Formats: sequence, C-alpha cells, structure tokens
Amino acid sequence: MKRILVTGGAGYIGSHTVVELLDVGYDVVIIDNLSNSNEKVIDGIEKIVGRRPEFIKMDCLDMDGLRKVFINYPNICGIIHFAASKAVGESVNIPLHYYKNNIVTLLNLLELIPEFGVEGIVFSSSCTVYGQPENLPVTEDAPVQPAMSPYGNSKQINEEIIRDAIHAGLPFKSIILRYFNPIGAHPSAEIGELPNGIPQNLVPFITQTAIGIHPEVSVFGNDYNTPDGSCIRDFINVVDLSKAHVIAVERMLENKGDSLEIFNLGTGKGLSVFELLNIFEKSTGVSVPYRIVGRREGDIEKVWADPVHANKVLGWKSEKTIEETLISAWEWQKKLAKTKN
Ligand code: NAD
Ligand code: WQD
Repeated sequence: MKRILVTGGAGYIGSHTVVELLDVGYDVVIIDNLSNSNEKVIDGIEKIVGRRPEFIKMDCLDMDGLRKVFINYPNICGIIHFAASKAVGESVNIPLHYYKNNIVTLLNLLELIPEFGVEGIVFSSSCTVYGQPENLPVTEDAPVQPAMSPYGNSKQINEEIIRDAIHAGLPFKSIILRYFNPIGAHPSAEIGELPNGIPQNLVPFITQTAIGIHPEVSVFGNDYNTPDGSCIRDFINVVDLSKAHVIAVERMLENKGDSLEIFNLGTGKGLSVFELLNIFEKSTGVSVPYRIVGRREGDIEKVWADPVHANKVLGWKSEKTIEETLISAWEWQKKLAKTKN
C-alpha cells in the first residue's frame, strides 16, 4: 500500500486532506508537533473514515526523528507538507521563529527525499505571494510581489528553495499549491478549524460572534475601491481544497507533468466582506452584529483566483457553494461550543 507522509496533518487543512487520502485508499502517517492543533483531531478523522492514520507527535525541525520515520515507514512515497506557523501578525513580532519553523522544516524534508527515494512533495503556499495583483483574476504567472510579512516571505522563500533544488537536478517532483482563503469544515462537523486565541481570520471571527463569544465583527474598512467598499477575497471550501491535494499526489506518483508545477486553488469568484456576512446570515438564519472600523494594516484590497490551470491540468474545480460552506463552518462552531461546555 502506498503511504503518504502528511506533516501538519492534525491541523486545519491537513486533517481534511488526511480524510480524503484515507478515503481513496492511501495509508497515511501524520507528523505534527500539536503546536496549533489537538490530538483529538485524529479521533475525528477516524470517526469520518473508519480508519485511523498513524500519528507521530514530533517536530519537523527534529532531523533525527524525521529520518527514523522514513526508516520505520519504508513505503512513504510522497509528502504533503502543511506544517508551518501561519499567523501573519504574529510573524511580524517573532520573525525568527517563523523563518526557522517554516524554512528549516522544508529543508529537512528535502534533504531526506533523495535518501529514501520519495517521489515528491506537495507544498502549501498562499495567494499572499501575489500581493495586490495588477490583473484579476490572478493567474499563476503573475509576478510574485515583495512580501508584506515574515510569514509571506517564508512562503516565497519556500517556493524558491523548491525551485532551486529541482533546477539543480535533485530527483523529486513538486507541486506547489497556492491557496486563496480556505474556509468551512467537514460536513460531518467531526473536524474543522481550531483557531488559537482570538481569530484573526474573518470566518472564524464571524462564527464566534454568531455564537456570542464576541459582541460584533469589526469590518476592517469600507472605503476600498470595490463595489461596496469592503475587501474582496476568494473563499474556498476546505474539503474542495483538500481534494486537490489527493489529485496532486496522484499526479506526482504517476510522474505526470513537469518536475515543478504551480497551481492556484480558488473558486474564481471574489466575494466582499459585506457579501460574506450577508450570505452567512441568510444561510444560517443567525444575525451577526458588525461595526465598520479602520483598515487593517497590510490588507490587500481585492484578490481572487484564476483557477483555469488547476481546472484543466488537475481536472479539479471547487464544487461546494458558499452557502453550504458557511453552514459547515457554523455547524462546526456549534459543535465546538457544545464540547467546551
Ligand atoms: P494549521 O496551523 O491548522 O496547521 C498546521 C499544523 O502544523 C498544525 O497542526 C501545527 O501544530 C503543525 N506544525 C507547525 N509547525 C510544526 C513543526 N515544526 N513540526 C510539526 N508540526 C508543526 O494551519 P492550516 O491552516 O491547516 O495551514 C496549513 C498550511 O497551509 C500551512 O503551511 C499554511 O501556511 C498554509 N496556508 C494556509 C492558509 C489558511 O488560510 N489557512 C492559506 C494559505 C496557506
Ligand atoms: C479576509 C478579509 C480582512 C477579520 C490571511 C493571510 C493569508 C492567508 C489567508 C495563509 C480581509 C477582513 C478579517 C475581521 C475583517 N493565510 N476581516 N474583520 O487577510 O485575506 O488572508 O489568511 O497563507 O496569507 O494574510 O484573510 O480572513 O484575515 O481576512 O473585516 O475580523 O476579511 O480585512 O479583507 P486574509 P482574513
């Protein structure tokens, strides 16, 4: 049986991807240091799929530990590397931690790949590499813009490291996936996003407000050059996003395509902050108080994906509606609240 190593597999996108991998028959070993997740996630995965992934609580900075994993699981044929620190604001305050955690983890894996004959690595990148693109929707060949934060910079450096390694002839393939704004939860509500502290991202803040944890959502700016003045994003369902990883892994293992490929993962549709709030209220029937406040430093005005490359080459496209996605986020929030009480 083919086994995939999923680093950060107890996290938000990782856990949903593990479900999809197990579902189509892969064996999975997760490495996660649980710095931003909880071991209970593994139970949630097992409840959904009826099969438990191997789980190793370990830090990907631990090179000796990583080497032992490859020795103990000789059937690892591919890697999906989710493990990273991801809070943009925090990265400004503790940049060295971000550079070390997000770069050395990748270097460690790349160093081990040839030693253990792994076919390739799927890497989690971000639309943040585009900054404010000149043309919308944004295609993969749009220029990478100077990063606005150490987090964003770490993703750009990761992409460059992979490119240079492949250019130098290292024997592996890589698929870089640039996610737009992943939201929602598994429809079973067994797994979802576990925000650490006060959420910085819009949807977890909306669901926490809807359930009464916060009095209102602060809308960061209504004076942008957009139809309703609020920022526009491409909100992509996390299950749809996860399915693209399975396709990417298969493509790598079948040795299709170039040794390095980059794909945008988004819906192709931009929604404003106000539009999202409205759809949330309409589809859940719960009202969400909000207040307009000043712009958040570093925010991009508008960005949405051109997903045609992923549609054509991967045969992948987002399927779930924004309504069902927001309902899944709400169901997950209600479940979280119940388990906390
Ligand atoms: P997450 O924090 O939920 O998951 C990351 C997981 O990695 C966590 O479980 C954490 O405990 C683990 N981890 C962190 N450092 C580790 C280390 N050194 N060793 C082992 N485990 C470690 O984040 P997520 O939202 O699932 O994001 C997954 C990936 O996708 C990240 O690389 C992130 O930068 C990227 N990404 C996320 C988004 C987003 O909006 N969520 C958007 C674009 C890209
Ligand atoms: C979306 C919109 C906010 C919270 C971040 C990272 C990016 C990527 C995804 C990892 C913006 C507005 C938000 C709130 C608000 N992550 N907002 N009130 O900023 O597009 O992207 O997550 O790679 O790198 O930067 O996502 O969810 O924080 O914000 O008005 O309380 O919602 O201003 O316009 P963002 P977000």
